[in-house]
Parts: sequence; C-alpha cells; structure tokens
Amino acid sequence: MRIASLSDYLLPRVNRAPASQEGARIPRVPRAPVNRQIYQLIREAILAQTLPAGLQLPSSRDLAGELGTSRNTVTYAYEQLLAEGYLESRAGAGTFVADTAPDQIPETVERTVPLTDPSGKSELSARGAMLTRQAGVSDKQWGAFMPGIPDVTQFPSKVWSRLQNKHWRRSQAEMLTYGPGAGYGPLREAIAEYLRISRSVNCNASQVLITTGIHQSLDTVVKLLGEHGDSAWIEDPCYWGTRSVLNSLGIESVPIPVDQEGMRMRLANLRRPPRFICTTPSHQYPLGMVMSLSRRRMLLEYAATHKVWIIEDDYDSE
Ligand SMILES: Cc1ncc(COP(=O)(O)O)c(C=O)c1O
Repeated sequence: MRIASLSDYLLPRVNRAPASQEGARIPRVPRAPVNRQIYQLIREAILAQTLPAGLQLPSSRDLAGELGTSRNTVTYAYEQLLAEGYLESRAGAGTFVADTAPDQIPETVERTVPLTDPSGKSELSARGAMLTRQAGVSDKQWGAFMPGIPDVTQFPSKVWSRLQNKHWRRSQAEMLTYGPGAGYGPLREAIAEYLRISRSVNCNASQVLITTGIHQSLDTVVKLLGEHGDSAWIEDPCYWGTRSVLNSLGIESVPIPVDQEGMRMRLANLRRPPRFICTTPSHQYPLGMVMSLSRRRMLLEYAATHKVWIIEDDYDSE
C-alpha cells in the first residue's frame, strides 16, 4: 500500500482515547504519548515500504497542523527517526525517507557452517553453553546458609546514599569518562597505601589493578600469564566461580583436597607442576579453615622452584 498523504495515514491510527476507551479507535499502537505513536507508526510504514525510500515528508509544522497536534510532538518523532537512520534530512530540501533495505550479500559467499543449531535447541556455541550453565551455582543468591554472602538486608543504604550524594555533588569530570585501563589513579594509590599499612604488603600503586571482582581478576591474570591447555590446582571444594573461569579459558582444573591445614597435595600432584595454584588460604572457601604456616611455606617454595603462579583469592579479609 502506498499512501497519498501522511496525515491521512496517521490520523485514524493515532490513539488519543483515554485509557478507559482503549480499543475504540484503531488499536494498532498501544496508548503511548502521541509523539511516540507518530514515531512508531512512521517507522513501521517505512519498514513495510508503505512509505517508500526517497519520499519527501511534510514539514513538521504542516504535519502538526494537519494532525491537530503541537509542532514539538512531530519534531520529536522526526528527530528520533533521523537519529535512527529511517529519515534523512537534505539541507534546504526537506526530510526524506531513507533507503533502509538491507545491503545485498554477494552471491559468491557460500555458507558452510549453519548459523543456527538445526535441532533448534540452542544457538550457543559449546563454550557459550558451558559458560551459561556455570554462570551461578544457585538461583538463590542470598539468605540463610548461603556461604560467603552477608545478610544483605542489613546493608546501610541510608549512609551509603548520603555518602554517594556528598561525593557526586563535587564529582570530577574525569570520573565520567573512560578511565585508565588499570583503574582510577587515586583509588589505586589509596589501595596500595592500605595494603602497605594494614597488610604489610610491599607494593605501590603501579602494581594495583582495579577489576570488577574475582571473575575478572582471575580471567585477566590467567590470560596474561597462562596458555590454553595449562593446568591449575584448585581447592576441593572451592568457589564455583574459580572453576568456571578456568574452564572458560581452557585451563585444566586439578582438584586438590583440603584438610584442616588447607590444600594437601599428593605426590602425584607434586610430580606434575601446574601453571597456577588457586587458593583461599586466609579463610578456605567454603570450609573456613586457615592454611597452616608450614603448608604456606611449602607452597611458596614449590611455586618458586617450578615457576608456578599462586593466585590468592583473599575474598574475606576486609
Ligand atoms: C571464595 C570467593 N571468592 C570471591 C567471591 C566473590 O568475589 P567478588 O565480589 O570479587 O566477585 C566470593 C563470593 O562469594 C567467594 O566466595
């Protein structure tokens, strides 16, 4: 269908009825603000080629007059459609329907791998399926008997929002842009100082890298220091996220049982040095024991001898 006049097309379709009479007029567009309805109707008409590419639209002033609505209402719809590429404005000439037909794929390209699973079950790759399967251990993420999760109902929301407001009032422009890759400089300084004073960690800000949490940290460390096919010792039992990130990176997880002193390696383990040792020595997750000093020293010596990286997940110290 081609249309003679845009306002003739829009007028019966724009729904200005109060909610109680909804459906009394043509109910194609749910009752939304009129500017939104006009935008949606024109967009649909362009996609259906009811409004063909190259067609000149009336000026916003004329269309507003014909629809009996304010010019702002039409301007909003036009601007939105211009921004999304459905319309184009030609200087001095007016507003036209853009050519939105998809680009043709050259005939010579043959598709050898189907884009979708022929069984129709899932379009995810094997890795995608594995990642989504391992995205969490449980639908329930907080409440009684969830290890490692505090009682979030006790979060001091009022104090938090007061502090947030206070700091936003004098926010720095640089905080609203992309930050440096390793994180916000003053925060890295503050963390390094904190680690020096309260944890006796001999470090400076250039060694601190801010991440969104253990998943990103582990992912970054393993990508920077490991190869696909390397192995990592993990505690058994351990945090589900550790295993999931390692799997996603193609690292073989070697479970090491824990006793009251922490990870306990067998001779067979020691004979095959891994690339990484992932451990929670300060507070084993989820069993809670602290790794003994002798076990720590043994791990450190072993790692130094065999050039193994120890990744400590100190998730619970602060
Ligand atoms: C052992 C362990 N590491 C890390 C995390 C989560 O850490 P993040 O907040 O850095 O993602 C948890 C959360 O339960 C955890 O139990």
